[in-house]
Amino acid sequence: MYKYRHAKFSDVEEIYNLIASYASQGIMLPKPHSVLYENIREFVVAENLSDKKIIGTGALHMTWNELAEVRSMAVHENYKRQGIGAEIVKKLLAEGIEFGVKKFFTLTYSPQFFQSLGFTTTTKETLPHKIWKECIECPKFPNCDEIAMTLEVD
Ligand SMILES: CC(C)(COP(=O)(O)OP(=O)(O)OC[C@H]1O[C@@H](n2cnc3c(N)ncnc32)[C@H](O)[C@@H]1OP(=O)(O)O)[C@@H](O)C(=O)NCCC(=O)NCCS
Repeated sequence: MYKYRHAKFSDVEEIYNLIASYASQGIMLPKPHSVLYENIREFVVAENLSDKKIIGTGALHMTWNELAEVRSMAVHENYKRQGIGAEIVKKLLAEGIEFGVKKFFTLTYSPQFFQSLGFTTTTKETLPHKIWKECIECPKFPNCDEIAMTLEVD
């Protein structure tokens, strides 16, 4: 049984390790502790109730008027393909909708996952320039090979 809930400071180490495990494979960008602490309110986690371990995480970052980014999605290797990532995204989308978000986007190497949740592929140029602020700090800039995807809601 898994519990989906907002992250707490006490989860940061596990979130850090989960993201770092994929960052070391070049699948995700690393998130330093400072960034996780500052943005802890953005994070949702999946907790395995049997051992209290964090097995999945994801975040919703408000970007612009009615626009938000789904980011930092990671599910532990041993727990993939059980619907955990989808549950996290659904929780993030529901929260965004409460705030009035009309368009969600993501930059990802896992397009099939986001496609299964209704996202469609777009070009980065269709997204507001504001998103480039963080891209400029990315080690891959300007040779970004992530796929941009969006989901519009009524
Ligand atoms: C992407 C990721 C978060 C998905 O989490 P997950 O819990 O395994 O995904 P789910 O079980 O909720 O998958 C939901 C659906 O997405 C699709 N999907 C997920 N992973 C997929 C894969 N590797 N290949 C093809 N389709 C996939 C499937 O349609 C799946 O439904 P199904 O299992 O019934 O066929 C996880 O694979 C992960 O942590 N990957 C490494 C990090 C990463 O790439 N993060 C995204 C960057 S933002």
